[in-house]
Amino acid sequence: MKKSTEFSFFSNIEELDNESKYLAHKAKEATQHAYAPYSKFHVGAALILEDGTLIMGSNQENATYPLSMCAERVALYTAAATHPGKRIVKIAVAAHKKNHKELTGATCCGGCRQVLLEFEERQHKPIEIVMFGYDGKWIKAPSADSLLPLRFAKENLD
Ligand code: THU
Repeated sequence: MKKSTEFSFFSNIEELDNESKYLAHKAKEATQHAYAPYSKFHVGAALILEDGTLIMGSNQENATYPLSMCAERVALYTAAATHPGKRIVKIAVAAHKKNHKELTGATCCGGCRQVLLEFEERQHKPIEIVMFGYDGKWIKAPSADSLLPLRFAKENLD
């Protein structure tokens, strides 16, 4: 089991390294395009590819609730569909409740961790994850692997 000491915590967005800060701001910006009339929980994700391309995503809900899609997966699938073969370096996630200016915790759900992990395995290089935690701190995780120990993965099917 991976230790939580692999994670870094930052009280202020300004303390993040430049690339993480940029993505965190873009993730906040992406919340503006969330379609979340049911949960009223607006999530944004921003990822950067190896060539510097920025891709943004936001949660997209549906009246048939389970058809809704998380912001992270919208960004990840967009990256795979529009920039196939390019490595994802880092992804940031941010969220706020409807009509709230301040951020609220949005640490990727288990489903998104599972999807992140398979992207990571496909590219054989870690994807760094930057998230806003429930205690108001920014969290940096070094990889999807660190977020999902003891998971089910492709090898289980071999
Ligand atoms: N959501 C995300 O977009 N990302 C997460 O990591 C957690 C949850 C979305 C799904 C749903 O539209 C809303 O937030 C409430 O769960």
